[in-house]
Amino acid sequence: MKFLSDGEEATLSFAEKFASSLKGGEIILLDGRLGAGKTVFVKGIAKGLGIEEEVTSPTFTLMNEYEGRLKLVHMDVYRLKSALEAYETGLTEYFGKKDTVCCIEWAENIRGAFDPDGAITIRINYLGDGKREIETIDK
Ligand SMILES: Nc1ncnc2c1ncn2[C@@H]1O[C@H](COP(=O)(O)OP(=O)(O)O)[C@@H](O)[C@H]1O
Ligand SMILES: [Mg+2]
Repeated sequence: MKFLSDGEEATLSFAEKFASSLKGGEIILLDGRLGAGKTVFVKGIAKGLGIEEEVTSPTFTLMNEYEGRLKLVHMDVYRLKSALEAYETGLTEYFGKKDTVCCIEWAENIRGAFDPDGAITIRINYLGDGKREIETIDK
């Protein structure tokens, strides 16, 4: 499914609605260049899961964990180089947990650490000027 966003607010509310379909155990791969809106999308998911805590980018912490209707684990693995590193840092323990939704930015860096067949890809294409095309690819 494709959605045309004309600003941060539109992306937030699209992601918030998307979150209502989540049941737990999902791995969500956020795909898009730096500044595309991957973290904004995760903020919308958090809102949709009833999380009131502020969601901040886990660029330096690797992952942040939040409690809502489901547990939300937000990972940014920009700095990791392999699936082995994802294992060694403990990230792989969260994948597939029934009460947890895992959102991963730069997941291609840890290819092999999770089953891509069970993952949902959110592709955010930067169209400039606040405009983004958001595609949800559910296998
Ligand atoms: N339509 C849009 N959707 C999401 N973010 C947008 C949009 N238009 C502009 N932005 C801005 O783009 C930036 C996206 O930042 P961020 O979500 O941190 O990107 P990423 O995590 O992909 O690097 C934010 O400053 C946000 O306000
Ligand atoms: Mg980000």
